[in-house]
Amino acid sequence: MNKILKGKFLVLDGPDGCGKSTQTRLLSEWIADQGVVVVSYRDPGTTLVGEKIRDILLDTAHEGMGDNVEVLLYMAARAQLWKEHIAPDLAAGKCVLMDRWLSSTCAYQGWAGGFGVEKVIKIATDSLERIWPDLTVVLDVDAETAAARMQRDLDRMEQKGDIYHAKVREGFLKLSEIHSSVKVIDARQTVEQVHKDILKLML
Ligand code: TMP
Repeated sequence: MNKILKGKFLVLDGPDGCGKSTQTRLLSEWIADQGVVVVSYRDPGTTLVGEKIRDILLDTAHEGMGDNVEVLLYMAARAQLWKEHIAPDLAAGKCVLMDRWLSSTCAYQGWAGGFGVEKVIKIATDSLERIWPDLTVVLDVDAETAAARMQRDLDRMEQKGDIYHAKVREGFLKLSEIHSSVKVIDARQTVEQVHKDILKLML
């Protein structure tokens, strides 16, 4: 297991309210238990530049922001995260576990926002050194389950409405059809069962 996980680039992704943060924590603890150095980062964010970009993206005052602007900002935050953390960590043989990555830009801006998934991938290819992780796990949830898990003030992206978020879910599922490294798990199950299903993908 140590050999399999060392230097691996893993991503947990999915619609808002899919339980990603909890599962990232559980998976990170499990990887550490296997004796592998694991680091976990959120995208967008983590770096100083990335956290500032995150604030701009999620601020409800910025309601007029276009999908193309979102794509460029998410990509900029990601490029900084790659340079400051991910690239050196992978080179050092650490396992990098991401809370979101390019799959989100494909599902949100590319599919739900109508910018175009192929265009997102093209911009990513031109601006990032590596675009596809070794494995992307999509935690799939329906709108009702997701809403029940988000009993708090919603940020700008979360406020985009039911139709947009139904398309986000669809975008993630479509991505799994075109990319063999993108796997889908039913995240309506209990936290323990979802964790077990994720572990099955690690073996
Ligand atoms: P988070 O709250 O899961 O950290 O993600 C922040 C929000 O940004 C969430 O609503 C999903 C959205 N998002 C995109 O729209 N495109 C992206 O590329 C990423 C990484 C996140």
